[in-house]
Amino acid sequence: MQIVLFLHVLGSLAVGFYLLLPFVAARMGTLEPAAQVGYAKGLHNLNRVGQWLLIVQFLTGGYLISQYDLSVLWMVVVIVLFVALGAMTGMLGGPLKRVIASGGEGKQAAQRDASRVVMFSGIAAVLVFVLLLLMYYPQWLA
Ligand code: HEM
Repeated sequence: MQIVLFLHVLGSLAVGFYLLLPFVAARMGTLEPAAQVGYAKGLHNLNRVGQWLLIVQFLTGGYLISQYDLSVLWMVVVIVLFVALGAMTGMLGGPLKRVIASGGEGKQAAQRDASRVVMFSGIAAVLVFVLLLLMYYPQWLA
């Protein structure tokens, strides 16, 4: 069904948020602690929406697998990378929640959490990028 591929590509545009996140997250560490709280709240909300959209990607992608003649290697690598991506988005929640809970107190701890957010979102961005490459060049893992 053409509509499922459309939904999958639409979802991938939205999940593209994870490609931008490391650059946006990098700004968090430069803000005053009180401003970081609001910033972290925004990023946390976006991450929650992103996680729901990843579920959409998984469901539509699962259906698409049945429609295309892809190698088992491709499926295994895509699913492993996808699970790693899911884990990164989950791990992003920890430091973001801590910054929010700190209420702007504890500058050093917030700084550490800000750099964790940059690291996890950087890994997530690389994973989205590699997944997108594999979507377009499935022949690499034929
Ligand atoms: C961040 C995650 C993902 C992104 C950004 C993404 C993106 C895309 C895009 C843009 C296409 C269209 C490619 C084309 O028309 O040539 C596509 C196709 C496809 N996707 Fe995904 N996808 C993701 C996750 C998944 C997952 C987890 C699965 C499987 C469970 C999957 C299975 C497929 C299949 C089977 C196709 C059609 C075959 C192909 O063109 O290679 N995708 N994906």
